[in-house]
Amino acid sequence: MGASFERTAALDAAFVMPTYARKPVMFVRGEGMRLYDDDGREYLDFVAGIGAVNLGHSHPAVTAAVCAQASRLTHVSNLFHVEHRDELARDLVALFGHPAKVFFSNSGAEAVEGAIKLARLWGKARRGEECYRIVTAQRSFHGRTLAALAATGQASKQEAFEPLTPGFTHVPLNDIAALDAAVTPDTCAVMLEPVQGEGGVYACDPAYLAAVRALCDERGVLLILDEIQTGFYRTGPAFAHQAYGVVPDVMCLAKSLANGLPIGVVLAGGEVADAFQPGDHGSTFGGGPLVCAAGRACVRALADERLGENSVAMGAYLRERLGELAVRTGAIAEVRGMGLMNAMELKSDIAAEVAAELLSGGFVINSIGTRILRMLPPLVCGKPEIDTLCDALYVSMGHCMQGGA
Ligand SMILES: Cc1ncc(COP(=O)(O)O)c(C=O)c1O
Repeated sequence: MGASFERTAALDAAFVMPTYARKPVMFVRGEGMRLYDDDGREYLDFVAGIGAVNLGHSHPAVTAAVCAQASRLTHVSNLFHVEHRDELARDLVALFGHPAKVFFSNSGAEAVEGAIKLARLWGKARRGEECYRIVTAQRSFHGRTLAALAATGQASKQEAFEPLTPGFTHVPLNDIAALDAAVTPDTCAVMLEPVQGEGGVYACDPAYLAAVRALCDERGVLLILDEIQTGFYRTGPAFAHQAYGVVPDVMCLAKSLANGLPIGVVLAGGEVADAFQPGDHGSTFGGGPLVCAAGRACVRALADERLGENSVAMGAYLRERLGELAVRTGAIAEVRGMGLMNAMELKSDIAAEVAAELLSGGFVINSIGTRILRMLPPLVCGKPEIDTLCDALYVSMGHCMQGGA
């Protein structure tokens, strides 16, 4: 640990609210899958800013777009037209592949808030003032702001902040009968992550998501897909729902849209999008020219570099290697994921210890709860990096199992 780390950690303790239990490292530079700390030590990044840097760190196309735009114009306001906003909206709708319009926010939670407001307006206009309820999944994660937190299906994150925004019901994922019972005439939307991320990487079954779409159609309810973590080729296609062959009415995006710059999007088809009228919603910074220039460069580079194909191929390779590790160690209960969004569930409570040992060995990997290790590398990840990680996992799991025995 360098002197600059010590100084920063002291400032953090003194002046920053302790909402995160930060790891003892300060990254100062990144390139592709590699991060470098203030001592110049190299790390392989299997977290990618929690799925926010799909192109890899410091991608030259995004850097060039940001530098060019920053030297021209950074911010005006949403009261005026600016460059890049409308082009990025057009590019996102083209990736979606169906007629739609977007609203730009600054984060994932704000995108979810926007989708909730849009669904409430849409529902109330159709079935009256009481039609504002939204059904979401248990173990889901939709963000930390109050309505997004109410939508989140994790009591541990909610309890301290009660009373929460009313109108949310949570059902078990992949249980269509439970969803059927939870949708009432007062329901305006069902909101799901195609693959739950923060909850531990649990995917919707294809038959379930198709049945959810049919149920929403039958009952006149919107299907909102939160693709904040699954979007931008993380699971293979541009958006995870495209592999399921299910088209949502509303989609939330954020994380990797601008390769690490703060941005969020609510995208909605046809008449749903027009439920918002001037004055209904807004944001000072959302859709500004700087972040939209970055977004355009990012969306273009992700497609040009065919990172969706790499995501599918390397995801399959990673799960194969983790499967071998499961046989060798006997310590892994399950390996699951889609594309480069993967997790392994351990048989004992050593996930945090393994992640900490890996960090000191030069690997960034995420632990969820006590038993889940999540891997979300930049989509430029290759076989050599996966092999190196699996070798390190084998050693660390061995140490931690001995320590815990
Ligand atoms: C599926 C999903 N929705 C919403 C969010 C919240 O996004 P943000 O942290 O940008 O507010 C996240 C963040 O992890 C997420 O994974």
